[in-house]
Amino acid sequence: MTTGQLHLNAFLMNTGHHEASWRLPESDPFAHVSLDHFVRLARIAERGTFDSLFLADGPQLWSSLAQRPAGALEPLTLLTALATATEHIGLIATASTSYNSPYNLARKFASLDIISGGRAGWNIVTTAGKEAARNFGLEHEPAHADRYARAGEFLDVALKLWDSWEDDAITGDKAAGVWGDDTKIHPPRHQGTYFSVEGALNVPRTPQGYPLLVQAGSSEDGKAFASRYAEAVFTAQQTIEDARDFYADLKSRTAAAGRDPDHIKVLPGIVPVIGATEAEALAKERELEDHIVHHHGVANLERLLQLPLGTLELDRPLPSDLPPESAVEGAKSRYTLVVELARRDRLTVRQLIGRLGGGRGHLTFAGTPEQVADAIETWFTQGAADGFNIMPPVLPSGLEAFVDHVVPILRTRGLLRTEYGPRQTLRQRYGLPRPANQYAQPVHA
Ligand SMILES: Cc1cc2nc3c(=O)[nH]c(=O)nc-3n(C[C@H](O)[C@H](O)[C@H](O)COP(=O)(O)O)c2cc1C
Repeated sequence: MTTGQLHLNAFLMNTGHHEASWRLPESDPFAHVSLDHFVRLARIAERGTFDSLFLADGPQLWSSLAQRPAGALEPLTLLTALATATEHIGLIATASTSYNSPYNLARKFASLDIISGGRAGWNIVTTAGKEAARNFGLEHEPAHADRYARAGEFLDVALKLWDSWEDDAITGDKAAGVWGDDTKIHPPRHQGTYFSVEGALNVPRTPQGYPLLVQAGSSEDGKAFASRYAEAVFTAQQTIEDARDFYADLKSRTAAAGRDPDHIKVLPGIVPVIGATEAEALAKERELEDHIVHHHGVANLERLLQLPLGTLELDRPLPSDLPPESAVEGAKSRYTLVVELARRDRLTVRQLIGRLGGGRGHLTFAGTPEQVADAIETWFTQGAADGFNIMPPVLPSGLEAFVDHVVPILRTRGLLRTEYGPRQTLRQRYGLPRPANQYAQPVHA
């Protein structure tokens, strides 16, 4: 039984998470490259006293232009602009450990943390798929285990770089003519399997020390990585039972890694389809489903399941001879989730596409504001979540509906703050301590 207040993260995606959202009359087909659109979303989320907002990303063109809005603004750049348009909300950018170098990326996140006054977060991903690999001189996607091994070393180097300045390295002593203390600089001098980095970083230590570390893979390697490094975890879970198992597993792995299990916040995704009545919510869900163009959905599914194009038939179930998760080199846990969902609910390919259309495997929940609040409260109090990744099917209207109708109920029930209060860092919002610098001597009272 979990008590206290829950954490809310707004997962923003152009016109919304439903793949057909861009086709609704209200939607702007150019929203994905509109700063005004994202400023508006950020301010709505801030009105709802969310802990943070989040942008997904990958260094590749994700889908065909025929299908839905494709391409996106680079998250760290966009979040820097949002930092100046907001005051309290945390700003979490996705960046890949497979297709970046630690020095450049550590510098960019340190810059965002300073510019935003300590509100930066990093969604650490290893990036599945050969499309991205081919943008970086590789013929094939690196093996899953290699991607996570590189991610581990990437984090170790980034953490050393962020700690390479002690907090009090800059003294600014004009009278003595000494700007800073070189003994407080600690170059990592890292020589490893994937990286060789002398250091130190060319940005001082930041308000948070380093960005909030978020992770979003749920495979064995993903969970092992999260238990070592992550302070928040995004996850797709279809049932409260699966979510509780995942939650308990991750907390116990974190304890086994020598960390406080309360210092890793588990945030399952939910796609809330909100209506004044249940019938209205279901009608909204149906309207979105009716706008799905099925051949795009089939191609997406074939890509996820790593089947040759043209394998699947709309009105038949998935093939019974799909390979096990261990044979998949892409996004392992999402593969298993989709296959299990189709088998458990005996779905045809057409029905499966309808179920995935809203949130690509995240839980879709259609109902009244009370019903949505009840579902959130149940998962929160029954040990399935420390909070939620809110994924509105349509933006901005779905976020507005959540903030105007669900947030007040959560506040009345004492589950969510009613105001931000004084400025805090993102890590403080999540109830997490500021990390100590690995190079600094502890100060004894
Ligand atoms: C809420 C959520 C957001 C994600 N965002 C991204 C993203 O922006 N970019 C990306 O490459 N992968 C993203 N992922 C995918 C994960 O990083 C990971 O590749 C996937 O869950 C499979 O991981 P696994 O192979 O460890 O199971 C996201 C996953 C979740 C649950």
